[in-house]
Amino acid sequence: MSGPAQGAGPAQGAGPAQGAGPAQGAGPAQGAGPAQGAGPAQGAGPAQGAGPAAGAEPAVEAWRGIAAEDEDDISASLSALLRLRGRRLLQDLLRPYRASVTGILVLILIANLGALAGPWLVGIGVDRVPQLTRSHDLAPMVVIIGFFAVAVLTQAVATRAFIAAMGRLGGTVVLELRCRLFAHFQRLPVAFHERYTSGRVISRQVSDVDSISDLFDEGLDSLVSAVFSLLLVGAGMLLLDWQLGLVVLAGFAPLIWLTAWFRRESALAYRRTRDTIALVIVQFVETFGGIQAVQAFRREQRNEEIFGELNQGYADASLRSSRLIAIYSPGITLVGNLAVGAVLLYGGLRVIDGDMKVGVLVTFLLYLQRFFDPLQDLSQFYNTFQSAAAALEKISGVLDEEPQVAEPADPVTLPPPGTGTSGRSVTFESVRFGYRRKTVLPGLDLSIPAGQTAALVGATGAGKTTIARLLARFYDPGQGRILLDGVDLRQLSEQSLRAGIIMITQENFLFSGTIAENIELGKPGSSRAEVQAAAAAIGAHEFIAALPDGYDAQVGKRGGRLSAGQRQLISFARAFIAAPAVLVLDEATSLLDIPSERLVQGALRTILAGRTALIIAHRLSTVEIADRVLVIDDGRIVEDGPPGQLLTTDGEFSALHASWRDSLA
Ligand SMILES: Nc1ncnc2c1ncn2[C@@H]1O[C@H](COP(=O)(O)OP(=O)(O)OP(=O)(O)O)[C@@H](O)[C@H]1O
Ligand SMILES: [Mg+2]
Repeated sequence: MSGPAQGAGPAQGAGPAQGAGPAQGAGPAQGAGPAQGAGPAQGAGPAQGAGPAAGAEPAVEAWRGIAAEDEDDISASLSALLRLRGRRLLQDLLRPYRASVTGILVLILIANLGALAGPWLVGIGVDRVPQLTRSHDLAPMVVIIGFFAVAVLTQAVATRAFIAAMGRLGGTVVLELRCRLFAHFQRLPVAFHERYTSGRVISRQVSDVDSISDLFDEGLDSLVSAVFSLLLVGAGMLLLDWQLGLVVLAGFAPLIWLTAWFRRESALAYRRTRDTIALVIVQFVETFGGIQAVQAFRREQRNEEIFGELNQGYADASLRSSRLIAIYSPGITLVGNLAVGAVLLYGGLRVIDGDMKVGVLVTFLLYLQRFFDPLQDLSQFYNTFQSAAAALEKISGVLDEEPQVAEPADPVTLPPPGTGTSGRSVTFESVRFGYRRKTVLPGLDLSIPAGQTAALVGATGAGKTTIARLLARFYDPGQGRILLDGVDLRQLSEQSLRAGIIMITQENFLFSGTIAENIELGKPGSSRAEVQAAAAAIGAHEFIAALPDGYDAQVGKRGGRLSAGQRQLISFARAFIAAPAVLVLDEATSLLDIPSERLVQGALRTILAGRTALIIAHRLSTVEIADRVLVIDDGRIVEDGPPGQLLTTDGEFSALHASWRDSLA
């Protein structure tokens, strides 16, 4: 499990067991500063909690994902609901391992029976002592000691076995949970990630999963073991001497009260720790995601203050939970010691009266220790439990979020494109869409026949990118349908959707790796020759060949070692090799110099031959290759026609074109 945890340095300190001291959290603060207002992360910030999922749906629905993390005080019934959901997740994870769970329970039972036999044999032995002093025959004592040895050995072997088995089970379950969570996060819609921020994703994936891992490593066996020993020792004491047993059980009343109080308070405290550590991680991630903006705008000082405050919040939350333990743990010891005193007093009186043997009293006193020790352990591990419970709550909330681009029940596969074209027709049917409350597209009707290249132009904020994103199915329309060759996008299998439509944007993302790997991503398994052909077709070959490592040059994190224009060329090559039926370009050539743009444009003519394309560009030179121009204003199509024809009329496009001409002069 060290693998995934390593990547996320700051989160490591977040483990519930370690994170209690304020000093620990202070590590990352040095040199850090959360980017509250910095860079791309910003857009995601204010959106929290207002997502469509948290709207007017019934209570359970609303408590998915992020919604469950934005409240400080939640009602008792809701808290019960969240706990139940967390427990259900745990059961779900354990279900395939029912056999080993049963095995572990049996081993724990055996270990406890062994532990129980010890004091009982000691008691018997003690009662034999007076007899021995008379008979001077050690044989019966040897037999008892023999049994005692068997009992403690059984206990040792069974304990070793169940701890090892528990460790294995925990490892498997945590591994699976991590993978499941990762896969799920990846499939959640863009809209979800806009609300959730990558810091929270990391916090779920690393620190929350870690605390569940801790549960298996150190908590769960002591919990199960404690429950067994309480039951067994309790029953044993009642069998041995029910009156004395009742004296001990009387001590239980304050214990139950104390435990209930502790449980309630620490659940609150731990939910708070999980929330605050997530905030710390969010700030951390966002700062370094936007480090350029942070430094450019001299935000360091302010960021350090914000980070300090959040860190303080986490430290306070941790302090509260350790204060609770500081009350609970000695409380249990006190009750236990009072019980010892009471047993000694009452049992002593009974022994004096001759009602009870000394051995029974000894057994009782030893049992008492067995009785209160596990409770003491439990209070030690209680923070592990509570952290894990809170983590399970959060993780199950995320897992309850539904992936938007869900694989339809019976996905439709598209027939091969019609003859003479490799494109497909695109139709928007009364599409209405808005982000949150604001409507961006009031009702869009648009039909692009297969093979046509349509250009979208219009003012900033008109809704062009929104149309492109809807077509690439990053979002689904609120009303209406978007069809690809007559099939609703929502009915298409994810694979045919991704093979059918590719979007290239201004912020094209390259993954860490080589240039060749990034191009190959368009069509996994393509040969080096194909990769080079794609790069050559798009006019990227020259600059790549000039690099010291050529196609094997590392692009760096997010392609940071290349210029913005070079990144665009590579993402073009990636789309070229993928050869989708529909290509969506959103400002995709905006970062290129004029000669490169010309080159890409020439290549586009080749790529787009026979394909359907939607091109968005402010530089109207890009629009020249379009068959058709659509002028968008406030989410509506206000002009539609071939560029040549629109230029002759006295409309919006000719006005745009004229001002663009002027700007060139
Ligand atoms: N993720 C988002 N969340 C909320 N509102 C958004 C989001 N993206 C865009 N908007 C809003 O939707 C409207 C349309 O934005 P869109 O990005 O489609 O404009 P555009 O025509 O592409 O503009 P530009 O030419 O500047 O790229 C804008 O008012 C914008 O504020
Ligand atoms: Mg845009």
